[in-house]
Amino acid sequence: MDRYIAQRLDLADTLAPFRSQFNVEESGPIYLDGNSLGRPSTAVTERLADAVRDWSENLVGGWARWIDLPAAVGDRIGRLIGASSGQVVVCDSTTVNLYKLAASALAARADRQVILADAHDFPTDRYVLQGLAESAGRELRLLEGSVVDGLDTDVVAGAIDAQTALVCLSHVNFRSGARLDIAAITEAAHRHGALVLWDLCHSAGALPVALDDDGVDLAVGCTYKYLNGGPGSPAFAYVRRGLQAELRQPIWGWFGQHDQFSMASIYQPDGGMSRFLTGTPPVLGLLGVDAAAEILESAGIRALWAKSERCTEMLVDLVRARLEPLGATLASPSDPERRGAHVSVAHAQAWPWCNALIERRMVVGDFRPPDVIRLGPAPLYSRFVDIFDAVERMAEVLKAGVDDVRDRPKSPE
Ligand SMILES: Cc1ncc(COP(=O)(O)O)c(C=O)c1O
Repeated sequence: MDRYIAQRLDLADTLAPFRSQFNVEESGPIYLDGNSLGRPSTAVTERLADAVRDWSENLVGGWARWIDLPAAVGDRIGRLIGASSGQVVVCDSTTVNLYKLAASALAARADRQVILADAHDFPTDRYVLQGLAESAGRELRLLEGSVVDGLDTDVVAGAIDAQTALVCLSHVNFRSGARLDIAAITEAAHRHGALVLWDLCHSAGALPVALDDDGVDLAVGCTYKYLNGGPGSPAFAYVRRGLQAELRQPIWGWFGQHDQFSMASIYQPDGGMSRFLTGTPPVLGLLGVDAAAEILESAGIRALWAKSERCTEMLVDLVRARLEPLGATLASPSDPERRGAHVSVAHAQAWPWCNALIERRMVVGDFRPPDVIRLGPAPLYSRFVDIFDAVERMAEVLKAGVDDVRDRPKSPE
């Protein structure tokens, strides 16, 4: 692989024109952190400016247009994750949605004792489930799998039995990018009468997901990574249509109430997906997500994934050829069928290495303890030459040597 091949790939890339819709500083560092926080697009900037104008001109009258945004933007995201309309809402954070849906599932399986999850899943998922297990008097069983390759489908399937109330997993692992088999695990859970909740934070807008076809019960995910909705943009929640009437979520807010503006004295949940809402929707955030997701829709999730697969394959090849001789190792699955959209590299000095790359404005990836740098190309605005150049820069810094730095980064996501 040389730079010329990367340039040829860019010339042939049908998604290349989308880059001009994003605010990219061409002389800036190479941004490979779209798996943490996506870039703003002109469409989002304009939609937010329009929204502020609408607010200032129409004040409270704007609510006629804003009140249904959680469902409307939910339907748009649904189209990116294989969910037909009326099953996705956009509201709250991923953490809060995970809590609402996991609690609903546990209440619907009150006679079952066990929650199954991944010992290496993102902290918020484990914490929410720990809290729920404690408050609902259930047992949280954390499955141990390979830190790099993720949980084996057979291990998960073998752990599910008649005592399992809920299986809650991330489709793509936040650290290694290991991808689990949604269809097979969902099917295994259903065979034993358990419900399944998937965290799609690292899949939504990046990989094709088929929630309806795979019979998934519940899913959540954020909109600020590959969906480019902006820092802290609201999350989504999916509940399979056939389950909606059966599930009662634990936060009885007025936006979940049937006939909300009758202001009834007794809580009676809405009959459909709105019952999973809580309070006033974050309108500016929703409009940003809507404008951002529209771009992904027009690019097409299959085309995005096809490019992403080529980007990660190229990254893996370059990591092996250029970084492994310098003491780094691939910390993502080597089998492309088990990978998501980012690639991780482990090194004993991962944090000072990552820090040097950012401070010298060379490459923006991110560090995840104990020893991993994640590199997440985003097919809408990352180029193949960016990947080539980023690995060259990483090799250059490593060869020169990095100082030990003790402070840890403070950015979330
Ligand atoms: C898998 C996963 N779940 C949840 C979250 C975060 O949830 P929240 O948006 O509530 O902070 C992240 C954030 O990066 C994540 O990677």
